[in-house]
Formats: sequence, structure tokens, C-alpha cells
Amino acid sequence: MCGIVGYSGLKPVRQVLTDGLASLEYRGYDSAGVALWENDAVTVIRQQGRLSKLVERLGLMHEQSRCGIGHTRWATHGQPSEVNAHPHRQGRVTLVHNGIIENYLQLREELEKKGYHFQTQTDTEIAAALIDSCYTGSPLEAIRKACAGMEGAYAFAILFDGHPNCVYGVRLGSPLVAAVDETGAYLASDLAAILPYTDRYLLPEEGELLALENGRLTCYDSDLQPMEPVWKQAHWSVEQAQKEGYRYFMEKEIHEQPQALRRTISPRIEDGLPTFGVDGLPAGFFQKIRRLYITACGTALYCGMVGKALIEKIARLPVEVEVASEFRYRDPILEPDSAAVIISQSGETADSLAALRLLKARGIPVIAIVNVVGSSIAREADYCLYTYAGPEIAVATTKAYSVQVAMMYLIAILAAGERQVVDQEQQRRLIEGLEEAVELTPKVLAMKEEIRSYARGLRDTESMFYIGRGLDYSLALEGSLKLKEISYIHAEAYAAGELKHGTLALVTPHTPVVALATQPELLSKTVSNMREVMARGGPVLALVTEDLEIDAGACDQRITIPGKGGIFAPLLVVIVLQMIGFYAAEERGCDVDKPRNLAKSVTVE
Ligand code: M6R
Repeated sequence: MCGIVGYSGLKPVRQVLTDGLASLEYRGYDSAGVALWENDAVTVIRQQGRLSKLVERLGLMHEQSRCGIGHTRWATHGQPSEVNAHPHRQGRVTLVHNGIIENYLQLREELEKKGYHFQTQTDTEIAAALIDSCYTGSPLEAIRKACAGMEGAYAFAILFDGHPNCVYGVRLGSPLVAAVDETGAYLASDLAAILPYTDRYLLPEEGELLALENGRLTCYDSDLQPMEPVWKQAHWSVEQAQKEGYRYFMEKEIHEQPQALRRTISPRIEDGLPTFGVDGLPAGFFQKIRRLYITACGTALYCGMVGKALIEKIARLPVEVEVASEFRYRDPILEPDSAAVIISQSGETADSLAALRLLKARGIPVIAIVNVVGSSIAREADYCLYTYAGPEIAVATTKAYSVQVAMMYLIAILAAGERQVVDQEQQRRLIEGLEEAVELTPKVLAMKEEIRSYARGLRDTESMFYIGRGLDYSLALEGSLKLKEISYIHAEAYAAGELKHGTLALVTPHTPVVALATQPELLSKTVSNMREVMARGGPVLALVTEDLEIDAGACDQRITIPGKGGIFAPLLVVIVLQMIGFYAAEERGCDVDKPRNLAKSVTVE
């Protein structure tokens, strides 16, 4: 949800900013802009559309500048036009912003009374004016005072006239990282922009301020007293954040799933049994828990649904799963002796973070399952179980989902043991089942030609369905999301038995249906639903594990998933679903990594 970057130092800033924005472009790509210190004045250059257009426009100019800020936008307030593009300038203040100022209309009224005029519909221009209105010579004082009047979420990088070669930063509810190398000081929305220079970074707490002054970085506490920075070490390399020969990040990330799964699972297995000791989760945590709440958004939510099925089945622990944006406003009735799990790749999703805060305020212990180290959700949860997927750049989540699902298995198996639903031998067998499924993932990746050939046939499809029962239904939801978000084919997921209650009316020979049939105990029921579709002329692709038989008349085409049907099939099926989405989008000429209207990290409501 917008990427910001800032630099002050010895290097030509134009390159630092555009390189940084290139690695943050997954956060939004409606417009891009920079503000540069040149000859003791600030020059602003903004451009609607992708960063490449801005780079073209910058050309070889502005080579002398050594300090500036940059922005890549995912539009919230105001259209994705040049005038609404960041940086925004009011009075002596120029800034870039990631987040939303919720009380901006009220602030706008107050500032208009003070004589400010606004050219844009953005909340960011109001923030610039507010900071300018608080400015009496000290940038830090002005920022602190203005922030006290702002409601919402923000990470700002700010330039003040009269303070050449200085960038100031502050955050509330939106991410910000800072770093230094031998040439100068950096700030950015995330590590990807900083990793090419250094793997040592700091994460300012909310309310702390950063000053990048002539290449030096100083951190200030909320009383504006300089403080010792707390440095962290990055565990991602810059290579991991590059395409390494693949045409798209999504393609690369799909192929990274076997390693990501092994990296995530193996530190949590000791003597064949699951443990979250490395994560600091106390042994026996699930012993007394009577109910688990899982809340998340999008793909992470669908992972939560898989988690519910697994945890209820294996550990007999009741689980409620809810969309974070609904949960947070519903005044939920939370039972004593319950716990919660928040799932988030980025660790910054605004609705998931708000759900976490609500749960904590109600005294419910929260476990976060997060991929991005040091992110807000990771920091605020009582316990954080990091997934080790490595950086995920493509907007469409793939490997991060698989490792989240792996965590669901581990939680289910661990909780089953702690609740004495299964004994150690049974736990060991379940862990073996999980490891066997992981070892089969390369086999699914090797099926790409077969999957691509099906996906090519979707070139002119306008609408399709994904159906399944039980775990297969949760997977169908993820499969349909993957397809629609990157190929723009309308896709809906249905519990297979529910189709006949209305939606079957939409099935025609032009409505392909992907039927997931990997759960042995539900197979005959799902096959009946496939037949119902076939009888209406709907072309059915069946995704069936190799041990399960279905009659030839139940589908037009079958893709056979390696391994056995049952609880571990999701780890294999999802790869097929991801590849269907990927190859369909590629066939339709879509921008796979940067689908329209979307952004990777959703830090607004
Ligand atoms: O970073 P998060 O996992 O919290 O993001 C939640 C959703 O925005 C995300 O899963 C989204 O649905 C996927 N990128 C879609 O592929």
C-alpha cells in the first residue's frame, strides 16, 4: 500500500530512489514520484503510471542531487493521476506518505481557515499542510506536534525547506525501516529497498522520529531525545528478492515452495514430534485452550479455513475463522480460556493488526504466523511463529500460503498431543505424512506442461467455478482467488454440495468448472456434484489424487495429483491451482506480478 524511500549521503540520490522504488513497486504502482534536494531547493517530479515512466522522465537529469525522497502509489484518496501523485508539497514541507489520515476532511477545513489551499483530493496533501502549520524552525517539533493531531496510519518521509540534505521520518501503524552504510543513511517502507546496501537495519517504534542529516542517521524518542538505535540483522539476501532467471516473481515463488516448506517445518520437529520451542511458545499451551479464533484476510484467511478443518479434525479443538475486517467491528463474544491465531504474510495488514489489538485488549493470548520479520503483527503478538518463505514479491501469494498451511499442520498435531487426543506414535505418523507431502511437491511442479495446457484453454473464458467439499472447499476458495486476481477471469468457489441451490443456473458449456476431489470420505459426494455440472454441459476438470478412482463420465479431463488423498493433499493441490492461475494470466497477456488495482501489502482498511 504505497512504498516510500529516502536517502541522504554521498551517492547520486536519483539512482538510490529509483532502485528502491523498483523493489517497492509491488506495494502499489498507480504513480511514482521523487523530491530531490538540488541547489538548496527541493525539486518535485511526479508521473502517473508505472515507475518506468518516471525513470524515463528523469533521464540523466538531477545527477548532482545527494538527498531526496520517493514514492510509489496505490491510490486510496483521489484518482491515480499525476496531480494526486506523491510527493506533496505545502508551504515549506514536501513529503511522501504510506497510510491513510482518517480525519483529513476535518483537518482540511481547519487548515483552509488558516489560509491553506489544496490542489489534490489526497489526505497526504493535508498532512503536509498540517506539518507546515506546526513548523516554527524545528522539523522534529513540527512533526511531533502535527502527528498528535492526525488519526489513522502513516509512515512519512519529509523534507523541510531550509534544511538541505536532510530527510525526516516517522511512523504510526505503517511500516518503516532505516539503515546506514559507508555512503549515507536510508529509510524505506521495507527491507527490500535497503538490502542491496546493507543487511543491518532498525525498525523505529511508533512515535519515534528519524533524522537523516547529511548522511548521518539519528533516532529520537517521542520526547525528541536522541536514542541509541537497536540494530537488527536481516535474514534475507538481495538475491532472494530477485527473479533469478524466472520471467515473473510469481513463477519463481511457486517453484520455491519445496525449500520454503522444508525451511519452515524442519526447525519445528524434534525426535519426530512437533515443537514451537524455537519460537518461544510454552509447551502445553494448547492443553487448557477451549476454543481458537483464527482471523486474517484474503489468502491468509483461506489458510485459516484449512487450519480450522485440520485443528478440529486432528486435535478436536473448536476453531472459529473470521475475516479480520468483519471481526474487528463486530464486538465478538470471546470465550474465556481461548486463544487466537492471526495469519499474515506481510505482518502489516491493517485489518489483521486491528483484530490482533482487539483480541489482546480482551485478554486473549495471540499467536501470529508471519513471514516478514519485525513487522507490526509480529511485534505486537504475544507469540510469533515465523514462516520462512523468504521475500514474496508477486502480489499473488503462493509460497507464503503453503508455509502458513504447514504451520496449521504443526499446530494441529502439537495441539492433538497436548490435549491427549493422539499419542506420540500417532503424532509421529502425522509428522511423517506431512514430510512425505512436502517431498512430493517437486513432482507437482514437474507437471507444469499438463497444467499449462489446461490453462491455455481458459484464454477466452469469462467466468468459471471451483468446487470441492471439506478441505477441498477451502482450497477451491484459494484457487478461485488466485485465478481472478491475476487473470481477471471471474471465478467463484462453491462448496460442491451447495451449487445446486441456485448457482448451478449459471453453468453452461462456456463455464469451466475445476472440481477438487482429494478427500476419500467425500469422494462419492463430490463426484455426484461433478456429474450434475456435466449434465448441464459444464466442462469439468477434476483434480484427483493418484490413489482415488472416479468414473470417466464424471469429468472431461483429470489432472492426477501425486500421493494419497486425505489431510495432506492441500499442500500438493494448491500448487496446481497456483499454476492454473499463473498460466491462464500469462496466456491472457496480464501483468502477472502486478495485477491491476491491487497491492501486496494492504495497510489501509
Ligand atoms: O500480508 P497478508 O497475508 O496479511 O495479506 C492478506 C491478503 O491481502 C493477501 O493474502 C492477499 O489476499 C493475497 N496477496 C492474494 O494473493
